Amino acid sequence: MKEMLEALRDASRQAIDAAADMDVLEALRIRYLGKKGELTAILKQMGRLSAEERPVIGQLANQIRAEMESELDSRKAALAARLQELRLNAETLDVTIPGKEVRLGKKHVLNTVLDEVTDIFTGMGFSIAEGPEIELSLYDFDRLNIPENHTVREWTDTFYITEDEKVHLRCQTSPMQVRVMEAMKPPIRILAPGRVYRKDEIDATHSPMFHQIEGLVIDRGITMGDLKGTLNTLMQRIYGPDTVTRFRPHHFPFTEPSCEMDLQCFECHGAGCRVCKGEGWIEILGAGMVHPKVLEMSGIDPEIYSGFAFGIGLERLAMRRFQISDLRLLYENDIRFLSQF
Ligand code: PHE
Repeated sequence: MKEMLEALRDASRQAIDAAADMDVLEALRIRYLGKKGELTAILKQMGRLSAEERPVIGQLANQIRAEMESELDSRKAALAARLQELRLNAETLDVTIPGKEVRLGKKHVLNTVLDEVTDIFTGMGFSIAEGPEIELSLYDFDRLNIPENHTVREWTDTFYITEDEKVHLRCQTSPMQVRVMEAMKPPIRILAPGRVYRKDEIDATHSPMFHQIEGLVIDRGITMGDLKGTLNTLMQRIYGPDTVTRFRPHHFPFTEPSCEMDLQCFECHGAGCRVCKGEGWIEILGAGMVHPKVLEMSGIDPEIYSGFAFGIGLERLAMRRFQISDLRLLYENDIRFLSQF
């Protein structure tokens, strides 16, 4: 019996050593140490032994059981460590690999300039007003004193929405003057940026959709001096303190007197060059003192109040500001162009 036990010990040692995974190991435990296992089977034959032999074999059997148990345990620990190592190797994270670049978007150049203008005007006490792009002809034409036969009312100039010519895509932000005067009482100081639409062919300086920034100031005793001071401040803040401007008489049905403001060419300082097409000056906005009729139609007494209004072309402003020569670049969404500003 002693030989059987020793043979079992040697066989189990080898088998446990060779066990390649946990399942095999568990099968071995059952095979040797289980209730119906090989060690138990041998011990069942103890009854056949003599009284002297029994304690000796019993001790040996206990010793072998203890050995098997500890061998199983240490093999189990070794396998667990190996598994852990394999998993760690498989899940290795290389923190030195360069990250994937996330491309950040940025403000469109038109918004950059619009934000600049908005900042300057809010600093002067203006608030921002917004209104519909699909506008009533009542606001865009009639209340702005635009006569029945004015060319802007032609179907070739304006995108009408309705057959009866009562609704169209606004061709200027000036109807916002009327909307604001209807909605609030003087003193009024508002800035109204937004899209406008005209039936123009697309080229380097024209687009059927572009942006204007309307301004309106109404209070007691507002004069042309306020208009010039405000707009000169704007230009100096945008283009620098040495900026030279010029006001030229003009005509708009809703302002009297009306003017256009030119900027002395930043390139040639008035001498005339390619940028200003030999003029020395660059037209930048239309403005004027709000026509008394316009005030009256919107319920403001021109005997008490006066005001000025202006309309800035945002694209033009941005193009001058960043020396962009083709308007179309602003709408093409070419990242190579947009990322420069
Ligand atoms: N609305 C005019 C235009 O589109 C500009 C303007 C605005 C002129 C306000 C005077 C006062 O040309």
